[in-house]
Amino acid sequence: MKITVVGAGAVGATTADNIARRELAEEVVLLDIKEGLSEGKSLDMFQTATLLGFDTKLTGSTNNYEKTAGSDVVVITSGLPRKPGMTREELIGTNANIVKGVAQNILQHSPDAILIIVSNPMDTMTYLTLKSLGLPKNRVIGMGGILDSARFKTYLSFALNCPPNDIHGTVIGGHGDTTMIPLTRLATRNGVPVSQFLDADTLKKVAADTMVGGATLTGLIGTSAWYAPGAATALLVESIVRDQKHIFPCCVYLEGEYGQSDICLGVPVVIGKNGWEEIIDYKLNEEEQAAFNKSADAVRNMNNVLST
Ligand code: NAI
Repeated sequence: MKITVVGAGAVGATTADNIARRELAEEVVLLDIKEGLSEGKSLDMFQTATLLGFDTKLTGSTNNYEKTAGSDVVVITSGLPRKPGMTREELIGTNANIVKGVAQNILQHSPDAILIIVSNPMDTMTYLTLKSLGLPKNRVIGMGGILDSARFKTYLSFALNCPPNDIHGTVIGGHGDTTMIPLTRLATRNGVPVSQFLDADTLKKVAADTMVGGATLTGLIGTSAWYAPGAATALLVESIVRDQKHIFPCCVYLEGEYGQSDICLGVPVVIGKNGWEEIIDYKLNEEEQAAFNKSADAVRNMNNVLST
């Protein structure tokens, strides 16, 4: 198994680190446009192999796509991150050119790769990649919902004063501060609906905190987060390379599912060796479906910016 991570910045390097530590591949290639950055970071990470006890080889590449040849999975994190006060959507122009160019180069050397899109605005970048390269829909997956769900579960665990791993919770819809939909009704603590423990106002606050979870971190750190994004991306990679068939909320191309078509948006999907394999219908209630439709409208407007 060979995995390439494009972008050796905060999220890309953390993703590669998580992949290597868990030995998800024989080799991880880290590629960046900045001279020496990917070589330096991958060498630094590879020097932890004997300290942490993994054998995955890490290789750096300054924009040389030949080194990525034959990759099974490719994670694209290249592009600008947001700064405090910025929305993910403001990154669109710059990141669209970067993501499209990177994906074209990748496919020349790894025509069968499954692509994971992380760069923001992620829903639009996923749609752009799928449409501009004409790939089979199952091989293009946007990562956002796994991260947003992890944040949702964290805020629920704070409110419930319980371990985060006791909680199940999912965030669907777009990966934006106003477009994501934490599914409070379906969240559980050890199988019991969280609404049995928390009142409506607290649940609303948890959902609101989740939605601005990324912005909160950007405000604190000064740039966007990387530990949870890297861990979330590696979890997605793991389900592909180990064919685990986990259900994760991921940004995928919809053709009528959840009432939407010709758009990439976050829905629960089964993830295995072929990429995303099946969309799971959570049977949204009226209010949730209305929120999903509103989210789709906002993401569609963003997609249209690229075609105008
Ligand atoms: P960063 O600035 O630390 O790293 C980005 C890297 O991309 C830089 O090292 C840069 O040199 C490289 N790059 C730029 N153009 C390139 C090109 N043409 N080819 C190869 N490499 C190129 O940024 P960070 O924090 O790693 O974030 C990366 C992206 O991921 C941003 O767009 C950010 O908004 C997004 N993000 C998405 C998340 C999600 O859940 N989908 C979560 C967190 C960040």
